[in-house]
Amino acid sequence: GYDTSKLLATTGQVALDIGFVNTAACTSAITYIDGDAGVLRYRGYPIDQLAGKASFVEVSYLLIHGELPTAAQLAEFDGKIRRHTLLHEDLKQFFKGFPRDAHPMPVLSSAVSALSTFYQDSLDPFDEAQVEMSTYRLLAKLPTIAAYAYKKSVGQPFLYPDNSLGLVENFLRMTFGLPAEPYEADPELVKALDMLFVLHADHEQNCSTSTVRLVGSSHANLFASVSAGINALFGPLHGGANQSVLEMLEAIQRDGGDIPTFVKRVKDKEPGVKLMGFGHRVYKNYDPRAAIVKSTADSVLDKLGGNSELLDLARQLEEVALTDDYFVQRKLYPNVDFYTGLIYRAMGFPTRMFTVLFALGRLPGWIAQWREMIEDPTTKIGRPRQVYTGPTVRDFVPLDQR
Ligand code: ACO
Repeated sequence: GYDTSKLLATTGQVALDIGFVNTAACTSAITYIDGDAGVLRYRGYPIDQLAGKASFVEVSYLLIHGELPTAAQLAEFDGKIRRHTLLHEDLKQFFKGFPRDAHPMPVLSSAVSALSTFYQDSLDPFDEAQVEMSTYRLLAKLPTIAAYAYKKSVGQPFLYPDNSLGLVENFLRMTFGLPAEPYEADPELVKALDMLFVLHADHEQNCSTSTVRLVGSSHANLFASVSAGINALFGPLHGGANQSVLEMLEAIQRDGGDIPTFVKRVKDKEPGVKLMGFGHRVYKNYDPRAAIVKSTADSVLDKLGGNSELLDLARQLEEVALTDDYFVQRKLYPNVDFYTGLIYRAMGFPTRMFTVLFALGRLPGWIAQWREMIEDPTTKIGRPRQVYTGPTVRDFVPLDQR
């Protein structure tokens, strides 16, 4: 826990740590991970005690405010989120400007970035009331934006949010409902998606959260910082992995389900061929979220009738990987996203929406981390150093002499 920043600054030394494998960029009281023991806790509460027991809105309150809410606090928090779900009519025009086949992730980040232009009254990072307001606006509007990104991609009309519904139900209705047809989400589907959001809600200083903090450290507003986080999450090595897992399984299926050949290509390190959904920077024994997802995948897929052939391929792949020396030696285990794609697919989401669902789940974590960073008086602008490897000094040669 020793802060080396002052020491190194005074001695003129720089620590090189590519990928920040051993560098803590901040202190934080939000999420605890013990990668060797497979432990994940939000504000001290083990993930297996929260998943399935606390709702996503409850967990959002916990992450942002540090304590579990009382019933009255939860009702107030939930009520405020419900009051802000509507999107400004002008903001809805944005969706029309994107190509029909646009990936919903850049649509999501663009719309969140645009919130800075619509809500100029809640941009001051040091005004508590404004931060509260932007927190509610984000929590409430991201599901609406996500549903509209989907509607745009399938060419269906946007549905106004129904604020008599909870966050997840409302999102499912805006996504899968049609104006003329009443839509009632299956309670089991609501429960499962709510739990998946809880499992994704925070994960300390991962790539997107570090991005949110880094952007925010320049005192950029919450909308701008979260928009940057969404772009970081889009990458296939991070949130985009859930989409890649399903695409990988479908590719194996197209090749006749030949798992040994695929595993060989991974082990031969064929460029671009990885076992997606395996491996984690911090978890080197197992990902506790993956264990929860796996144990619920069966029941959810049974109920919703998922693609049993893909599930079967996933199981076979996991079995091979967990016994093969290449994976065992490198401590590569399934991460949270190995099975989520199969569940999302069974719920009816197209593959391109998977990472959007990750973003909806991760939002309270981004907000909590941004707020903690802004409130911390020791925060400084994030500004890594480098070890220069370019040419030493040389004289300029004019163009006609080169
Ligand atoms: N498939 C095959 N080999 C792998 C994989 C994988 N999924 N992951 C790591 N390896 C190998 C590496 O090639 C390396 O081998 P080497 O020592 O022979 O060179 C070794 O395992 C160590 O891997 P690193 O790349 O050093 O691990 P790092 O901590 O940097 O990467 C990461 C972690 C990005 C998650 C990586 O495991 C990966 O790319 N996984 C697939 C993508 C994925 O599922 N991402 C989701 C992460 S979790 C999340 O965001 C929810």
